[in-house]
Amino acid sequence: MEKKFARTLVTTALPYANGPVHIGHLAGVYVPADIYTRYLRMKGEDVIMIGGSDEHGVPITLKARKEGVSPQDIVDRYHKIIKDSFEELGISFDIYSRTTSEIHRKTASDFFRTLYDKGEFIEKTSMQYYDEEAGQFLADRYIVGTCPHCGNPQAYGDQCEKCGTSLSADELIDPRSAIGGSKLVKKETKHWYLPLDKWEPVLRKWILEEHKEWKPNVYGQCKSWLDMGLQPRAVSRDLDWGVPVPVEGAEGKVLYVWFDAPIGYISNTKELLPDRWEEYWKRDDTRIIHFIGKDNIVFHCIVFPAMLMAEGSYQLPENVPSNEFLNLEGDKISTSRNWAVWLHEYLVDFPGKQDVLRYVLTANAPETKDNDFTWKDFQARNNNELVAILGNFVNRSMVLTHKYFEGEIPALGELTDYDRQTLDEFKNVKDTLGEDIEHFRFRDALREAMNLARIGNKYLADTEPWKLAKTDMGRVATILNVAMQITANLAIAFEPFLPFSAAKLRKMLNMGDADWNKLGSIDILAVGSHVAKPELLFEKIEDAAINAQIERLERIKQENIIKNFQAEPVAESVKIDDFAKLDIRVGKVLECQKVPKSDKLLQFKIDDGLGGRTIVSGIAKYYKPEELVGKEVCFIANLEPRKLKGVESQGMILSAEDAGGRLVVIGPQGEVKPGCQVK
Ligand code: 2FM
Ligand code: ZN
Repeated sequence: MEKKFARTLVTTALPYANGPVHIGHLAGVYVPADIYTRYLRMKGEDVIMIGGSDEHGVPITLKARKEGVSPQDIVDRYHKIIKDSFEELGISFDIYSRTTSEIHRKTASDFFRTLYDKGEFIEKTSMQYYDEEAGQFLADRYIVGTCPHCGNPQAYGDQCEKCGTSLSADELIDPRSAIGGSKLVKKETKHWYLPLDKWEPVLRKWILEEHKEWKPNVYGQCKSWLDMGLQPRAVSRDLDWGVPVPVEGAEGKVLYVWFDAPIGYISNTKELLPDRWEEYWKRDDTRIIHFIGKDNIVFHCIVFPAMLMAEGSYQLPENVPSNEFLNLEGDKISTSRNWAVWLHEYLVDFPGKQDVLRYVLTANAPETKDNDFTWKDFQARNNNELVAILGNFVNRSMVLTHKYFEGEIPALGELTDYDRQTLDEFKNVKDTLGEDIEHFRFRDALREAMNLARIGNKYLADTEPWKLAKTDMGRVATILNVAMQITANLAIAFEPFLPFSAAKLRKMLNMGDADWNKLGSIDILAVGSHVAKPELLFEKIEDAAINAQIERLERIKQENIIKNFQAEPVAESVKIDDFAKLDIRVGKVLECQKVPKSDKLLQFKIDDGLGGRTIVSGIAKYYKPEELVGKEVCFIANLEPRKLKGVESQGMILSAEDAGGRLVVIGPQGEVKPGCQVK
């Protein structure tokens, strides 16, 4: 028997306020959490959804330093972008707050103090790297040096990205600051540690025995952490940005960002419900669900629960659904490489298409394995599913109802076996869809909902009411009543997934609020009630819009290649005589044209000072023929002639190969006569 809960607290990972959110965040955390919460609300359950920005941590301070502004400026900027874009996407937080709020500072500080007073921390002094120029201790990630395993001179203090080995800064040869490049010194510093080892047996029992139902990726990661054995973890840092450690002698120290961030869930609940927040955190008939990304599993399943147990008055989460990662066009999403679809940009590029993104990210959600977002798939799902199945069915039913009954829901006559069969398909949908959603199988639930629209389409195609209009209006009435009841069911079933379209549909149907409990009923729309003239719910997305996105990504890829360009090592030395064998000359382009049936080759007529010659060159991708006419180029004049696509090339035009393989023709910097030699 599954436990019954009186209320549900849904939390969503607090995104760092040092950049906007992208589709990976949405697919992993916010869209599923929103579906789940909307569903529970529609069932009439007591549920709140908590969100907010994570505004502390070293990366925010570094970004601020780089831009010459304060960390507060950075988080103010991104908190607003993130909050506004979530709202526009219809992520229905009951509160979206931030960890620089006063209430959070106090809550996190008090939480630390409670643990401190209870003797739950270990105090330890250790030697750590200190950047004298920057005047701060450095976390391993911000130290670079030579990898002891492969000799990479740019290895990070936590990992060498060349050979993949995990490192600690102490292992690096010749460690330097990644911030300013200066040499580092070691200095003594004191920190507070949460002894996770103390909580290991309880965590083991709680997760490995009592929560076998957690998603396999979450359970598996917890198991491997627990099997490795837990160590005390520092919960403070030497930094001037964060919640100050509320202990005497802790000047210049703040709470570690991963200590204060999850407490943000509590502070934000307090801010939302100053008088009732404890019901959601401390009563054992509350179901707490943390929606997170897979890189956050250890913090939500091990560290935060250990903090809560150490405090003693809180409930542990019932489940921690975490998705895998979403890739973009075959590559890992990366903020630093700008390889992402940013939500705030999507909302500008595709106005009014919030539901399309929500749909695609759910249909393709990385629930059990990493998945790929591609713009072609986005277009196909919109055009072939939202438009062609759901939109089409709704529109047809409503247009027919207007055509034959002026928008009035007609009376139901006698049902045929086929009508009954069709309606039967809706009978259990409330439970099947509900089961899927409650077990975090959002893809399945969405597929199931779309299937209902498919059934509707098939019903109209099979019953062909337009053919019966002349002979049997009674039958047409029955068919359209059934079709309209299916439409009303869709307006309920899709509400958690596509809230904008579902609301629009309910408005057209004059239905009022969506009530999950009515799903499956075949009398949602009363006979004699009126529906409005249909408006399209979805529209086709044309190639031009998709190609613009693909081109943007190609440009970014190219920019990244250029940014990361590294010159090739110099080839083996040659004698001056070897060089002298090449007769390199300057020539002037007289004519240039594309070589037929080739997208690579251009054919040149060159004035070489000796009566002219033809040269074929593989640069058609980089130049239009007319761009080069009249220009001076360098070419190898004594290269053996050879035929390319049937044209004899008498030499070779010289080009520089830029990062990413782009060819740029080279020529003299001043004016010279055609035929001059290059020495
Ligand atoms: O990984 C992240 O983006 C973190 N800012 C998530 C924090 S979740 C919670 F603990 F606040
Ligand atoms: Zn290495």
